[in-house]
Amino acid sequence: MARILITGSNRGIGAALAAEAKGRGHSILRATRVGQGGDVIFDISNPMQVKQAMSAINQPIDIVINNAGIIGPDSPTTDMDWTAMAHTFAVNVAGALAVSTACLDHLRRSGSPRILTISSQMSYMGYAKSDRISYRASKAAVNKVMQGLATDLYPDGIAVVVVDPGWVQTDMGGAKAELTPEEVATGIIDLAERVTLEQTGKFFRWTGEERAF
Ligand SMILES: NC(=O)c1ccc[n+]([C@@H]2O[C@H](COP(=O)([O-])OP(=O)(O)OC[C@H]3O[C@@H](n4cnc5c(N)ncnc54)[C@H](OP(=O)(O)O)[C@@H]3O)[C@@H](O)[C@H]2O)c1
Repeated sequence: MARILITGSNRGIGAALAAEAKGRGHSILRATRVGQGGDVIFDISNPMQVKQAMSAINQPIDIVINNAGIIGPDSPTTDMDWTAMAHTFAVNVAGALAVSTACLDHLRRSGSPRILTISSQMSYMGYAKSDRISYRASKAAVNKVMQGLATDLYPDGIAVVVVDPGWVQTDMGGAKAELTPEEVATGIIDLAERVTLEQTGKFFRWTGEERAF
């Protein structure tokens, strides 16, 4: 059984991931913001706070799931809300990297360390769509950051992959979304359990099949 840290585990996909993993007998470290009942508390947009919180955790971690994220502003490219755009990148890009690097000492104590980051199909470079452009760009950026992290951590034997969870019924996805958090969580935990170093740097659908960036 694995010890799994999951960010944003108080609601939405993160809560479903925590429930699914716990149901399979894994040991869960629920990471949340303050007041949300987590085992470890940080705001992922504050890398110093993340580092400090993780330094107080003295146990190995096998799997980190970077799930926390925000949709960001709906302002268009031609009239951008700069503060909101910067915050979207601070959470969705730098936040996921800050959590990953703050967990490196813990991951190095695992026999089979893995980092999964929840990205989005909205990152896909084959789409020219421009709605929610800050979010789209942040997810494309986190894919690139995680691809680089995969390269850098390969010598350490730490697998790093990104995951497209589909369109999911959460506060972010809305009630009309195609998938429930529970079905998506089943597929993502399946992937987390079986992903290997040979697959590092790749982008997967929640169903486990590899997809294009
Ligand atoms: N739903 C979809 O259709 C969909 C599709 C593609 C990708 N995704 C991605 O899937 C992930 C989970 O999305 P969701 O639909 O479950 O969203 P959600 O229901 O809005 O939940 C977002 C989670 O992220 C946490 N979070 C946000 N900002 C944070 C911060 N600065 N520090 C720590 N935690 C923070 C929230 O914590 P609080 O409760 O404290 O705000 C919450 O737990 C996100 O990365 C999202 O981009 C979702």
